[in-house]
Amino acid sequence: MTGSPPKRDLLSVADLQGDLPSILERAAAMKRARSAGDLSPTRPGTNIAMIFEKASTRTRTSFEIAMNDLGGHAVYLSPKEMQLGRGETIADTARVLSRYVDAIVYRAYRRTDMAELARWATVPVINALDDREHPCQIVADLLTLRERWPEGFRGRRLAYIGDGNNVLNSLLLGSALVGLDLISATPTAYRPPRDLVETAERLARGTGAHLTFTDDPRAAARDADALYTDVWVSMGDEAEKEDREKAFSGYQINAELLARARPDAFVLHDLPAHRGQEITDEVMDGPRAAIWDQAENRLHAQKALLERLLRRR
Ligand code: CP
Repeated sequence: MTGSPPKRDLLSVADLQGDLPSILERAAAMKRARSAGDLSPTRPGTNIAMIFEKASTRTRTSFEIAMNDLGGHAVYLSPKEMQLGRGETIADTARVLSRYVDAIVYRAYRRTDMAELARWATVPVINALDDREHPCQIVADLLTLRERWPEGFRGRRLAYIGDGNNVLNSLLLGSALVGLDLISATPTAYRPPRDLVETAERLARGTGAHLTFTDDPRAAARDADALYTDVWVSMGDEAEKEDREKAFSGYQINAELLARARPDAFVLHDLPAHRGQEITDEVMDGPRAAIWDQAENRLHAQKALLERLLRRR
């Protein structure tokens, strides 16, 4: 007996194993097509629900435009205005939304809630950030790197400087999958979780990527091909603001740190930035910032992801 294939969730970058290079290729093609006026409406009649427990500018807007480009429709849902905010369970919400839409995009405080939604939804669940990972961001980041390194990732070195947070977690997995060498400089107490590092190291063995860790931002930046940072106090970490600002005080990307990288090195930041904290205005607004392309690429990356995960109607 044949049935429809099982639904495919995107909770972690590791869920893209075997697929990531072709998704990047498709995203690049969609970007080229869009700039020529072809929006690639390859998923007409499809619908997604987008539940955002936290604020968002880039993820929310780019998913909505991506769905529109593909010929479908996106419904934005704030838990405050849903019955979810009044105690309806995640399981019941997942079962009901699955009767209306073709996928659910979810930005959650907790990975456990993400997993619960995915457990009960019968349509794909796409992680739009939780406390463990930010997989959609990393697809856009890799697209941005690929544009600047058309010969490929091999032999390139990306230095991530700052908090060992959900962005670094996903970056470790993404680098491992595409064979990119990643050096992470974080204070020892803010390193990524051991089990995630082990998964990334296992994936890296398949591609030859080198994943290294230090607490020295200057050593990480030395001869790097690109630098990447993120905020020191993420949404949900506000209670630790003072401790974090102290711990990360030597981890700013500024002109002096950038001078240690290769002369053609550029800078990534997933945004929003706390200007003057993890990155200076001079770097953000300077010619070596790839940050604005990176933000644009959220749209093209998510189009390719949605196309891959949504079934044709
Ligand atoms: N980088 C990112 O996820 O941005 P938003 O929080 O604005 O969606």
